[in-house]
Amino acid sequence: MSNEKNRRDFLGYTFAATAVVGGVVSLFGMKRAWDPLPSVLAGGFTSVDLKPLKAGQPKTVKWRGKPVFILKKTAQMEQSPRDLVVNNERFIIAIGLCTHLGCIPAWKKNVWKCACHGGEFNSSGKQTFGPPPRPLDLPTFSLKNNTIVLGESGEEYQKIATYLVSQV
Ligand code: FES
Repeated sequence: MSNEKNRRDFLGYTFAATAVVGGVVSLFGMKRAWDPLPSVLAGGFTSVDLKPLKAGQPKTVKWRGKPVFILKKTAQMEQSPRDLVVNNERFIIAIGLCTHLGCIPAWKKNVWKCACHGGEFNSSGKQTFGPPPRPLDLPTFSLKNNTIVLGESGEEYQKIATYLVSQV
């Protein structure tokens, strides 16, 4: 009788242990399946060091499949509430797609010119000529020391976004 009970207990413990291990393995597998791939995580954020930028020469980076213009302004360029000010230097950050029909404007003589229909944006990203209905769009970003992280919504981004909304 006692042997029969021990045998049943042993089978019960074995079944329970197998179920627990199976459950843990399943949960681990589900977590791995649900978590975004590292490449997806990395693709959502782009860090750009502002220090090496030369005034008057915009840099274009790719962020979430779109071009983003980052311009360090020269002293002669207009100051705008849209400027990101870092250590007394002024920067414009803008999605590099024309707000008319989405062509990529080119930087020529201190203006972004759109070859598709002649639209122009000044050094602050404001539309100044042609059919574009609004300034170049602002990507979300945060500022960490001298580096911007595209894809994060930081204090500086919110301040500029609030200004842009007030202009509509
Ligand atoms: S797409 Fe740029 S002006 Fe039309």
